[in-house]
Amino acid sequence: MDALTSSLAMARVITFFDVAGKRYLDLGAGIAVCCLGHAHPAITEALTEQSKKLIHVSNLYFTEPQGRLAAELVRRIGPGKCFFANSGAEANEGLFKLARKFGHDEGRFEILTAINSFHGRTMAGIAATGQDKVKKGFEPIMPGFRHIPFNDLEAARKAISPATVAIMIEGVQGEGGVTPATPEYLLGLRALCNEKKLLLFMDGVQCGHYRTGKFQSFQRILENVPGGEKFLPDGISMAKSLGGGFPIGAFWVRAPFADLLGPGTHASTFGGTPLACAVALKILEVIEHERLDEHARKLGEWLKNELERLAKTYSQVVKRARGFGFMLGMELVEKKKFRRSHRVTRPPLCNSQTGCIKPACWSFPQAHKSSDCCRRSISSHRKPAKAL
Ligand SMILES: Cc1ncc(COP(=O)(O)O)c(C=O)c1O
Repeated sequence: MDALTSSLAMARVITFFDVAGKRYLDLGAGIAVCCLGHAHPAITEALTEQSKKLIHVSNLYFTEPQGRLAAELVRRIGPGKCFFANSGAEANEGLFKLARKFGHDEGRFEILTAINSFHGRTMAGIAATGQDKVKKGFEPIMPGFRHIPFNDLEAARKAISPATVAIMIEGVQGEGGVTPATPEYLLGLRALCNEKKLLLFMDGVQCGHYRTGKFQSFQRILENVPGGEKFLPDGISMAKSLGGGFPIGAFWVRAPFADLLGPGTHASTFGGTPLACAVALKILEVIEHERLDEHARKLGEWLKNELERLAKTYSQVVKRARGFGFMLGMELVEKKKFRRSHRVTRPPLCNSQTGCIKPACWSFPQAHKSSDCCRRSISSHRKPAKAL
């Protein structure tokens, strides 16, 4: 389906209907956003009930949903504090400001990010993003960011200058092509940041929120890895699935650094409204109650095996499958060999070489259907894609 020419009118769970009533299977979940699918009754109920009580107050006041949501995020990550924003880019901006504050008195300001990373579309977001295409036409780019090769610890060590104050990475690069960090890289970066007095940030906007089968991707990457249980970054940005389609962003900061951005140093009018927080709380409740983390892990494993099988069968089109859980990618030999099936929504190719699947909570029959759609897309340079 062509994202720019189709008008989507309605959605149910993981299916879209366009204005002509045609049905589409959603492979992208709004680019890793709609973690409970579309039109989920629990989200509707949370929105309705909370809107009858309190939609917005200024951030001069605490609200119960915001306090409860912060406690839930801290419980899932570790001791620290949360700041609420409206989007992923805004959450990352908060972490960049935290780093600047941390290094300010020593004249340190520079943040290292990875080549192929994606951190948002604000001026600092595009400066932080390790892809030239997002910067083009917006020069001069904001100073204070340099890019290093992903999963290369030695390159990170060499890149550190006297001005460096932080390193930010995604646990699984999303827009860069579904590339997970290795356990050695995560543990090595933690040790390096400790040694050099740098903050370690993880952008969990896309790969967080149980998409990999654990709340944060590093928890999945490091499970059963010796020393992994002690790993914690110093800051984590979140958005996308946090609100399941209702706009909310957040960043968590580890306890020793949590008060660096005190009152008056950072704020947001709409960040963390009672309405947004009530939705985010409900989503966490549904995920926990219905064990959707396990579901993403199991179904994701099944689908990845299927994609690996496709890679073997169509090795002239697909090099390999990548990722975990509901964050999967197919590394293509050549972009032009991947034609989209007409009845699936199109998550954009993450980069020119990777087809991505970031669904919501599928059932097995839907996963079967999606693997079939992938097969048809892959083989479509020989056979045209058919309707579902
Ligand atoms: C890893 C990552 N960080 C940040 C962002 C920016 O989030 P938003 O579009 O909510 O500003 C994105 C968006 O795709 C993302 O994938």
